[in-house]
Amino acid sequence: MTQTLAVLDFGSQYTQVIARRIRECHVYSKIYPYNTPASQLKADNVCGIILSGGPSSVLAKGAPHPDKKIFKMGLPVLGICYGIQLQAELLGGKVAKSTHREYGRGHLTILKKGGLLKGLKNKMRVWNSHGDKLTRLPRGYKAIAHTENSDYAVIEDPKRHFYGLQFHPEVSHTENGIKILKNFIFDICKCKADWQMRDFAKEAIASIRETVGDKHVLLGLSGGVDSSVVAALVHEAIGDQLTCVFVDNGLLRLNERQEVKALFSEHFHMDLRVVNASSRFLKALKGVTNPERKRKLIGKHFVSVFDEAVKKIGEVDFLAQGTLYPDVIESVSINGNPASLIKTHHNVGGLPKRMKLKLLEPVRELFKDEVRALGLELGLPKSLLWRHPFPGPGLAVRIMGEVTPKSLKVLREADAILMEEMRKAKLYDKVWQAFCVFLPVRTVGVMGDERTYDNVIALRIVESQDAMTANWAHLPHTFLERVSNRIINEVKGINRVVLDVSSKPPSTIEWE
Ligand code: XMP
Repeated sequence: MTQTLAVLDFGSQYTQVIARRIRECHVYSKIYPYNTPASQLKADNVCGIILSGGPSSVLAKGAPHPDKKIFKMGLPVLGICYGIQLQAELLGGKVAKSTHREYGRGHLTILKKGGLLKGLKNKMRVWNSHGDKLTRLPRGYKAIAHTENSDYAVIEDPKRHFYGLQFHPEVSHTENGIKILKNFIFDICKCKADWQMRDFAKEAIASIRETVGDKHVLLGLSGGVDSSVVAALVHEAIGDQLTCVFVDNGLLRLNERQEVKALFSEHFHMDLRVVNASSRFLKALKGVTNPERKRKLIGKHFVSVFDEAVKKIGEVDFLAQGTLYPDVIESVSINGNPASLIKTHHNVGGLPKRMKLKLLEPVRELFKDEVRALGLELGLPKSLLWRHPFPGPGLAVRIMGEVTPKSLKVLREADAILMEEMRKAKLYDKVWQAFCVFLPVRTVGVMGDERTYDNVIALRIVESQDAMTANWAHLPHTFLERVSNRIINEVKGINRVVLDVSSKPPSTIEWE
């Protein structure tokens, strides 16, 4: 069984970053609820334990505590922020409310190198975020570094292999933070750097087989990265016990249905039910111009089309979903019960509850780029795994005003040209998103000797890290010129192309 470095989650926003940094070192790391029994950690072949930070105060009533037996397992323990205070509180030290909260940048002075602080400079920049402070160390511990505000910024009990950090080593604002984590992972926990995404796939497949047994799994395949990777993973595990449903809502890009069908049904031989519901969606959208109304109608019809398809399949027990770590918001409530809220996937919103299906979410511990690496491992093409995001309501939110078969045709053709040119110029992977928007206004043009009176296409090409903020991409004029010329010459119904030069905020990426 894979050797695992456990991160007990006390609710810090950085918990997932710790696990991820460890996986980047080719050591498997998994996040566990803070109160996971020591026996479970032992069963999982855990080789070290990290106690994460968290929003609570160890001094508060009902503050979340780990199973105390974790300190008796003979395993190295590293406490970060809340985690260091927990060690002090539970092992005989003392914690007091600090007179001033240490938040943001701090300066660490190292008193004793080696161990956790091996190979570091005497002074370094660190990132803090905590209110309480240690005032007395438990027996056996020594301070090995301090900051302006804390005499006990780094502590150790090398005999028991217990360590504590008052600051966050996992964030990039902490200088050489990764070195501290590596010292813990390799020198103290003696982990081997031999974990690969392939190992994750192997274990996930075994676990899906065990969970599902001989039951049946359903998956709503959108053709996007997350659902595609989950489809490939679950299919690898249970083959024909998986049925995928792909709904063509008539609002997809050029050849999208055919591509999904070719890949999943013909190449992977999956039981894929393709539902062509285009006319139903287009009928529902007739005459509708309000963006919110469009979105609501599409969502509503999606649920009924999906529901009908599922009824035809018959007995289904599990619903597989491509939930990722950022979709799972874990928080710790004051009475110690961690609450886990899951953003309902807009595509299947409302379905699981009504259909009483058990959820199967095999990639919920992973980040997007890790899911991509997993997809590669499972044989999915790069062109799918690095696709730009595409909204659930599809082209409907990229056609201003009413969605008609004509506007859809025009937008599809223009968009295909933009994509082709982005790929040819090797710009596709350099931006967050690139797409065309259809504007229902008509402007005058000349083509040959003829006057034209046609619609406008806007190019929306943005750079972004997470879609929360975005800036328009400053692409070469020659490239923009080529795209514009091709769209105007090749797409009937368009005689003008404009460029969207707005950032988010105050604009959004999509136009509706
Ligand atoms: P906005 O337009 O809000 O978009 O700046 C941010 C990111 O989200 C995508 N987006 C959606 N994705 N369903 C989705 O799955 C939707 O309804 C939806 N609306 C916007 C958008 O493409 C961008 O990447």
